[in-house]
Amino acid sequence: MLELTDVSKTYRGGVQALRRTDLVIQPGKVTVLLGPSGAGKSTILRCMNLLVQPSTGTVRVEGLPALAARRSLREHRRLTGMVFQHHQLILRYTALRNVLLGRVGYQRLWSVLVPPNKTDLRISLDALDQVGLLGKALDRADSLSGGQQQRVGIARALAQQPRLILADEPVASLDPATARRVMQLLHRVCQENGITLVASLHQVDLALEHADRIIGLAHGEVVYDGPAADVSDADLRLIYEGTPAPTHEDQLAAAAR
Ligand SMILES: Nc1ncnc2c1ncn2[C@@H]1O[C@H](COP(=O)(O)OP(=O)(O)OP(=O)(O)O)[C@@H](O)[C@H]1O
Ligand SMILES: [Mg+2]
Repeated sequence: MLELTDVSKTYRGGVQALRRTDLVIQPGKVTVLLGPSGAGKSTILRCMNLLVQPSTGTVRVEGLPALAARRSLREHRRLTGMVFQHHQLILRYTALRNVLLGRVGYQRLWSVLVPPNKTDLRISLDALDQVGLLGKALDRADSLSGGQQQRVGIARALAQQPRLILADEPVASLDPATARRVMQLLHRVCQENGITLVASLHQVDLALEHADRIIGLAHGEVVYDGPAADVSDADLRLIYEGTPAPTHEDQLAAAAR
């Protein structure tokens, strides 16, 4: 559903955050990006909806003309929900008003000045219901716990009725038990709504639990790409420490020493 061809990113100042990368994201699957801090996870996620403009290469979306066309990019962004680690809610707004912001892409510019229409309200309340927060719809976001705020962020992405959700460390600021529950929720709502999920995570256990596919990044380069079920300790070492997996001969030599 999404194809990155020869995509790289060098930020101003010369930091090469992502080397030339080819990647195809299959629809309906959960892909998790793993890698140490600075590996390029956020950069590649943001290249996927051109929030970061790649220095080289192209991003193609199934069913849409080239994203270079403004209309096409707007449509891609409308169909792509984003979930962030921090600062994703307007804290003085109610949960519902935050979720209604997910509908903005479907409205005309002036609609933000008038009360929400019934369709947007129904879709937003349904999204809050899906994350178990219908009862908190009229509570201010700053009165909610961190886990509840993340769930409102997920509801806002859902209200967008997206085909794809890009989630950048969606559970990083939560305690382990809450992180687990929120990740389960995110996975479930994506499954139930037929949404493709690409997420970056720092928690390897959660990644292996929820991902169909793991993409390991190190120094702006894909160093692992395969089914989550096949990830070995050696693969994780390669991703996080840059140590290649020992070969059979290496292991024999180590045993002989
Ligand atoms: N806007 C920017 N301007 C300049 N350099 C940047 C910018 N954003 C990221 N970088 C650099 O690009 C590299 C990759 O950053 P990126 O944020 O993609 O990593 P990450 O894998 O998401 O890390 P983390 O796990 O800490 O979120 C880093 O060296 C970072 O300092
Ligand atoms: Mg990041």
